[in-house]
Amino acid sequence: MQVSSRAVVTNQPGPHQDLARRVARAVEHPLRKPLAEHTREAFDHACQWRDARPDMPLVLDAGCGVGLSTRTLALQFADHAVIGIDRSADRLSREHGKLPDNALLMRADLVDFWRLALAAGWQPARHYLLYPNPYPKAAHLKMRWHGHPVLPVILALGGRLELRSNWPIYVQEFAQAVSQVTGTQPEMTRFDPDGDFLTPFERKYHHSGQSLWRLEVELPHAPSLVPSLSEPTEELY
Ligand SMILES: C[S@@+](CC[C@H](N)C(=O)[O-])C[C@H]1O[C@@H](n2cnc3c(N)ncnc32)[C@H](O)[C@@H]1O
Repeated sequence: MQVSSRAVVTNQPGPHQDLARRVARAVEHPLRKPLAEHTREAFDHACQWRDARPDMPLVLDAGCGVGLSTRTLALQFADHAVIGIDRSADRLSREHGKLPDNALLMRADLVDFWRLALAAGWQPARHYLLYPNPYPKAAHLKMRWHGHPVLPVILALGGRLELRSNWPIYVQEFAQAVSQVTGTQPEMTRFDPDGDFLTPFERKYHHSGQSLWRLEVELPHAPSLVPSLSEPTEELY
């Protein structure tokens, strides 16, 4: 069955006017949201899973949905440990057969997962943000990853970061935010998956005739990008 999807509808004519201010704020003010207990537990499990694969470089599939991209990436990077993270138990529970041994799916809130990963010294070789929720209303800028206070943590993890979206403004804004925080200008390109779909959303958008956009940037591991908490950091644990 072919599922069609409408193009993103937004009241923004271009990148959000308030983005630079929000990004500056994220770099200056630490994120104090307490960590959810279930994410700590899931993260402990992920640490044990990684400990059993000590020499494998890490790939993160952030917001993996049903986890099909996690499986594909695990096959593509067979000597890497690939972790797909999503907060939706429903999506993660869809049955797609046995996971490759080098893949793990975990339920967690990324805002907490990313902070735990950085605090634990994780340094992904590759980090994918595949079709994040666009939150296209201008008033929802702070819900997009580049408008969220967790942005410096995402960038501080480092590695080859890849964002894909069907909304070019999302990708332009993300590029602007990366450049503002790190001084590195990411590449943004329109691409055609040519039948080789990495995710269900990618397939759906392409079959609905929408253009797809990709941003790629190689970032150093740079924990100093994250503003420090004045209180002891145990608050995170
Ligand atoms: C538009 S879907 C894309 C899913 C998948 N990457 C794909 O392309 O098919 C966005 C996904 O991000 C997940 N997500 C959004 N915010 C999240 C958060 N704070 N923590 C974890 N997952 C989140 C949602 O549950 C959803 O599965």
